Amino acid sequence: MDPIIKTNHPLQALNTFGINCKAKLYTQVRNEDGVRRLIDDGYFRKEESLILGGGSNLLFTQDFNGFVVKNAIKGIEVIAETDDFVYVQAGAGENWHEFVRYCIGQGWNGIENLSLIPGNVGASPMQNIGAYGVEIKDVFHELEAIHITTGEIHYFDQGQCEFGYRESIFKKDLKGQYLISRVTFRLSKQFSENVSYGAIQQELDQMKLSAVTADAVSRAVMNIRSSKLPDPKVLGNAGSFFKNPVVTAATVESIQKDYPEVVKYELADGNYKLAAGWLIEHAGWKGKKVGACGVHDKQALVLVNHGGAKGAEIFELSEQVLQSVKTKFGVQLEREVNIY
Ligand code: EPU
Repeated sequence: MDPIIKTNHPLQALNTFGINCKAKLYTQVRNEDGVRRLIDDGYFRKEESLILGGGSNLLFTQDFNGFVVKNAIKGIEVIAETDDFVYVQAGAGENWHEFVRYCIGQGWNGIENLSLIPGNVGASPMQNIGAYGVEIKDVFHELEAIHITTGEIHYFDQGQCEFGYRESIFKKDLKGQYLISRVTFRLSKQFSENVSYGAIQQELDQMKLSAVTADAVSRAVMNIRSSKLPDPKVLGNAGSFFKNPVVTAATVESIQKDYPEVVKYELADGNYKLAAGWLIEHAGWKGKKVGACGVHDKQALVLVNHGGAKGAEIFELSEQVLQSVKTKFGVQLEREVNIY
């Protein structure tokens, strides 16, 4: 069946900030043939386009005056297996957390620390999603992507994705050029716990288990996340709005004069990563409401829509947060969320 193209389509239910805006043109694709038909009909050449996954890492500041394509390609399949690993391919439109739970149920390990991250499988390599000591790049094998103007299928391995902190080539040089259709992960048949991230061990201790399993780690992560991060179904948000900034040792020293307790992690190159949430909180923003939006009261890295906020208002709030952290600490924050 041809993808049905809708005009002036509401996007509110399609972005986790819950911003009420519209797309000039909208459709949903369920398979590669659907994508090819859109390419043949010239949609991607005629219009500015946006491929939408779970809508959990973007902020619409206005109506989208182009073509929004919701990627709903499904399917989970083991495509290869060795004594130690399974190579599991998932459609880009699979819900990420459901995929994680499915893998745990099958005894495939490696992504349990990434439980409860909102969004779909297709966005996971795009953002190189990460949490609690694990990043997608650690388990990534390969992805299949369709070039949206030529229709050619290309495969990208780890190196070709150029993964960085919440970064990949799909957010940089190849931005807007590909629709990621399927992603293959190399998951381990043996469980080896990765609980170095303090909060997980503490949570596991509280769960008083006889043995630590992937399922237990997943549940610990779910508990931690739900205690700090708002559920987008209840309170519109897009997770961390900013990245944790990397600064020099000199900057850390100057902040430590007034704030010896500043949260920092030393990097291999001698620079430091600072906790942006800490900086924002100590610039006085945690829990602050500005009109219909605000800064989350349990995690200052998260901006929230208290109901009816416009995207432009949230963007303006983020601008104020950026400026005040710059003025107070001399640190330039960078947005993690994609702005449209
Ligand atoms: N902190 C504060 N005040 C706050 C928030 C945090 O002082 O309001 C302090 C915490 O006490 C802690 C430190 O900052 O000492 C770090 O906080 P947390 O462990 O909550 O993690 P984060 O650095 O704020 C990052 C990711 C999250 C990921 C968590 C856990 C980024 C931008 N964010 O947050 O990812 O879940 O680590 O690994 O890297 C996301 O990308 O959307 C996301 C939620």
